[in-house]
Amino acid sequence: MDNFKYINGSLYAEEVPVEQIVAAVGTPTYIYSRQTLQTHYRRIAESFSPLHPMICYSIKSCGNISILRELAGWGSGFDVVSGGELFRALQAGGRPAAVVFAGVGKSDAEINEALDAGILLFNIESEQEFQNINRLCGLRNITANAALRVNPDVASAGTHQKTLTGKKETKFGIDIDRAAAFYRHAAAASHLKLTGLHLHIGSPIKSAAPYVDAITKALALIDELARENIVVDTLDIGGGFAAFYEGNEAPSAADYAAAIVPLLAGRSLKIILEPGRSISCNAGILVSRVAYTKQGGSKRFVIADAAMNDLIRPTLYESYHFIWPVNPGAELMPPNRTAALRTPHDQCVDVVGPVCESGDYLAKDRFLPPLKRGDLLAIFSAGAYGFAMSSQYNARPRAAEVLVTGKTWSIIRRRETYHDLIAAEL
Ligand SMILES: Cc1ncc(COP(=O)(O)O)c(C=O)c1O
Repeated sequence: MDNFKYINGSLYAEEVPVEQIVAAVGTPTYIYSRQTLQTHYRRIAESFSPLHPMICYSIKSCGNISILRELAGWGSGFDVVSGGELFRALQAGGRPAAVVFAGVGKSDAEINEALDAGILLFNIESEQEFQNINRLCGLRNITANAALRVNPDVASAGTHQKTLTGKKETKFGIDIDRAAAFYRHAAAASHLKLTGLHLHIGSPIKSAAPYVDAITKALALIDELARENIVVDTLDIGGGFAAFYEGNEAPSAADYAAAIVPLLAGRSLKIILEPGRSISCNAGILVSRVAYTKQGGSKRFVIADAAMNDLIRPTLYESYHFIWPVNPGAELMPPNRTAALRTPHDQCVDVVGPVCESGDYLAKDRFLPPLKRGDLLAIFSAGAYGFAMSSQYNARPRAAEVLVTGKTWSIIRRRETYHDLIAAEL
């Protein structure tokens, strides 16, 4: 699952004691394991290798350029959703010919940046967007490639409402019922070739079945179009593979591949995958120090120095992150990463941050060993949509980010300063 392990009662990131890193860098700090990133990337690449896919890592999940550089080095392309993410991809040495660009509101400036760079594919989300990119290509007298994001209207049980995207009633893409007409109409465009089909059905999708449903529908559409001599040669199946938050809830890359590869193996389609969370989630932890503990009525609070501005997932998606002290001691080793398992010493607490919102929490009603001021806490499975969704709310400088490789580690984003808070305002 990851390379964060307890040895003699203390947490290590690969071969480095977490305490050693925070002694130098302070808290809150995101710590990533290069080995974990690479393992998850490789498992996807290997499991899907019969399809020779292009893997376009989804930058939105964790976009630090040092991490993107590693991924580019392993052969990954990138899924971007803004000019800023395209900039990150290029700064990290990403190949433009391995960049796909999604998003419902691409501006003219962003489209032009992508055309300047020469990206592989625009993932189209609406008729107006298609016409606009066609127009902008026409002004340059060039032809670009596009895929249509199709909503296959599949059920994906277990995915939070806020991350469900494959249903008809969504701002993303085009209903599958309208897709064939879209392709017919697009065939007349002079500067944008609609030769791809893009799916992204939500995240996390905790079984392969919704992918099978979605891909089966997509293939039926591709076949229908082929009978009209409209050629779709690229299928982008999006992201959404699950990661491990509580235990072994995520299928392995091999499990997804076992269901998906046979559907596509006999086809001469170019396959694109856009995994984000399944690569970055378990590769990162957030480390925080206990500022205070207090009683509030019948509730016990642990007030950490990390807050919703550092990790918004618990309050935004009610998501579960396993939390355990960094130095629990050999006798208080962590149980499995579920809320249910506990040691006899545990206390039921809410772990909250210093932000002035009652929604500012990292965990609720959690059984943890007794904690005191100054103790360090590790918040696990925080690599995806952790730092990437962080903000400066309450004028809190963003956390530092550290990348560990074996026995060595480096700061890949320094902690922000108060001057960073106001730099763009001066
Ligand atoms: C179009 C698209 N592709 C890929 C992803 C990555 O999803 P995940 O991080 O769950 O793999 C997302 C996430 O929202 C997305 O919107």
